[in-house]
Amino acid sequence: MEAIRAEGLVKRYGDMVALDGVDLEVQAGRVVAVLGPNGAGKTTAVRILATLMRPDGGRAVVGGHDVVRDPVRVRGLIGLTGQYASVDEGLSGLENLILLGRLLNLSKREAKARAAELLERFELTEAAGRPISSFSGGMRRRLDLAASLVGRPRILFLDEPTTGLDPHTRNGLWDVVRALVSDGTTVLLTTQYLEEADQLADRITVIDRGKVVAEGRPGELKRQIGGQIMHVRPTLATDMDAVGRILAELTGSTPNRDENTGLLSAPAADPLLVSALARRLDLSGIPTDELGLRLPSLDEVFLALTGHNAATERNAA
Ligand SMILES: Nc1ncnc2c1ncn2[C@@H]1O[C@H](COP(=O)(O)OP(=O)(O)OP(=O)(O)O)[C@@H](O)[C@H]1O
Ligand SMILES: [Mg+2]
Repeated sequence: MEAIRAEGLVKRYGDMVALDGVDLEVQAGRVVAVLGPNGAGKTTAVRILATLMRPDGGRAVVGGHDVVRDPVRVRGLIGLTGQYASVDEGLSGLENLILLGRLLNLSKREAKARAAELLERFELTEAAGRPISSFSGGMRRRLDLAASLVGRPRILFLDEPTTGLDPHTRNGLWDVVRALVSDGTTVLLTTQYLEEADQLADRITVIDRGKVVAEGRPGELKRQIGGQIMHVRPTLATDMDAVGRILAELTGSTPNRDENTGLLSAPAADPLLVSALARRLDLSGIPTDELGLRLPSLDEVFLALTGHNAATERNAA
């Protein structure tokens, strides 16, 4: 069964086309990652699906209800964690969650119990009485996620849930998402991190400049760019030029060269190229620390699909 289906979503801001016919599908109980660099249209898509904004074209059905015709029904089924925390700064974590519970028509007792349970789950019990303004970024993010769970949503939208979090906090959030999914929650998350999509998602929709550029399972996407990547790390940095020339000759493509790691890599259509490379290096008397084949990373997939590098744009933004 589908929990989310969007067809041909279009959204314009003046002349700017933020979404240019986006299709999205999420099966119930699954995690789909919408992956894309800054400005790709991720937040716009989530806001439309969460009924916070109307599309200019196309349609979307969430939990069986049309987001434009039946927004109230949709809101009753979903939880949303925004890219920017949506909690009241002046109130404490506990007060925020109780308030939300009351807004969702829980009794005072139920609201308190639910708040305490969520604070515990997100390791916020100790800080529960402090105003949000004293929370760290990671604590805010966890409280924001807790807030979106007060109403036990069946469908959860997470807009860049881990951007700016340290690795420990990020791993903690990943565990929470996995636990929610094993309880049957459907999750649509957006991310700029290819590794995050790879870790959490059953399927990935890659969007770039308002268009879907690829869709599939993480492994399928990796295979889409074809074959494997041959990589080699010469022991001496002074050998990098010579190794680059040999790699180029064998693979027929310009090798990728990372001065920081000393690694050179190039797509290898034929796995036998590795032994050819080993022989050539041996004949030339070039020692290596590392030599082998691997599947391409999602960063390399993104580059191949869009012609530009997600990481570079991210850092430039
Ligand atoms: N309210 C707005 N008015 C005008 N343009 C907007 C508005 N909101 C978004 N845009 C533009 O629409 C495009 C898509 O924005 P959106 O926020 O959906 O991207 P995103 O994928 O969420 O990016 P990020 O990774 O930075 O959060 C961007 O070019 C953005 O500048
Ligand atoms: Mg965004």
